[in-house]
Amino acid sequence: ARAIKIDSRLAGLMLCGATLRRVGEVFSREIENGLRERPSSLQMENTYVPELPDGTEEGVFLALDLGGTNFRVLLLELQAGQLVREDVKQYHISDALRLGPGEDLFNFLADCVQDFLRTEGMENDELSLGFTFSFPMKQHSISSGELITWTKSFKCGGMEGVDVAALLQRCLHARGLRVTVQVLLNDTTGTLVAGAQLDPAVVIGVIMGTGSNGCYMERAERVQHWEAAHERVQDVCVDIEWGAFGDNGCLSFLRTEFDKEVDDNSLLATSFTFEKYIGGKYLGELLCAVLSGLARDGLFPAIPARGSLLSAHVSLFEEENVAGVCSRTAEALRDACGRAVSRHDALVAQHVARVISNRAAQLVSVCIATLLRRMSRAHVSVAVDGSVFKRHPRIRTLMERYIALLAPNHKFSLLGAEDGSGKGSALTAAIAARIAARSL
Ligand code: BG6
Ligand code: GLC
Repeated sequence: ARAIKIDSRLAGLMLCGATLRRVGEVFSREIENGLRERPSSLQMENTYVPELPDGTEEGVFLALDLGGTNFRVLLLELQAGQLVREDVKQYHISDALRLGPGEDLFNFLADCVQDFLRTEGMENDELSLGFTFSFPMKQHSISSGELITWTKSFKCGGMEGVDVAALLQRCLHARGLRVTVQVLLNDTTGTLVAGAQLDPAVVIGVIMGTGSNGCYMERAERVQHWEAAHERVQDVCVDIEWGAFGDNGCLSFLRTEFDKEVDDNSLLATSFTFEKYIGGKYLGELLCAVLSGLARDGLFPAIPARGSLLSAHVSLFEEENVAGVCSRTAEALRDACGRAVSRHDALVAQHVARVISNRAAQLVSVCIATLLRRMSRAHVSVAVDGSVFKRHPRIRTLMERYIALLAPNHKFSLLGAEDGSGKGSALTAAIAARIAARSL
């Protein structure tokens, strides 16, 4: 009887085929509206990346990767499209910088570049930089773009509408560095470009990490927004920003009381609500919200402390569930709830983890399946990166299953494309240099 009561409390999180198809139809409509610059929750941003690697990419590049789990500075060397050297240094971004004035954050980024170049003994070298900025932007060209809104765990003041590439450039120059910001890109674009270097069938890039988003190669003529000549361009990479899908209310039929709680407690409430169903930053919070709801109804022994469950716990509970054990699940719950829980309670928490993981996989699969149907190519590879994709034990299998169900007759494969922001940014900088040289 308890199991039935629990499942009826979780019913809103269990999506049937008809609901998923409805989400897909809404997604298609929002894609079209976004591309035509009509009101839409999908930004469908032109990234101005008009071609993918062709194996001729050469050179030494710096890269900055901001917005995922780690902030990194990288030095990369490409020869014939292959990465032959990659030096990486990670830097910690304090809460004060993530939540303080934007100028402070960008000065810090430039300090890190300077520190990195000193360690490499390259402080006086002339270098091109690819800036992977994993936030929504209004791009004006391949090397410029304004922040639209912060997402995930960043909320710096005074940055909306600011050209982040130009600001970084100013901060670099102020330190006397001879570094030019050559390309500004999103992590999905980096992932697509890095994936395409491995497999030419890659035309979609997806992030399942702290946040979630996708980009794909769209026919240039379908893209309304162009601020530069594109006569000779056939396709262009479009950054969908599907984290914001439904922020205009078009997905209100999906939202549960648990989602509302996660959203209300988030840094940026009412914004990027779809991402809050999928992103690693939120899956642990969702688990916590659901267990708290069950506890309030007497179906779980205690309310876990807010922030005590992370998406790593969702992965752990899933891992133990697959293995048919629950000792570490019970241990984590004891820490989160401040009291011992029974084996049965641990199994309930594993069940909740399964339900929310399943929904995350279903929703991201709807987006990918919709793109596959839209592209109608013989075979498409989807490059995927991000901590949830890499660490969640079942997410990949679930995605493969749901995409196949939602886009039957479309052949696809998921390609784990690690380090999209490193390799992808260097490759994109090389592509930009190739295009610039051609138009001379
Ligand atoms: C990484 C990319 O592998 O995936 C990052 O190189 C990207 O730039 C990231 O932002 C997304 O995952 P996460 O889990 O770090 O947010
Ligand atoms: C957020 C950002 C988006 C990024 C995604 C994954 O959704 O808005 O730009 O691609 O997170 O990091």
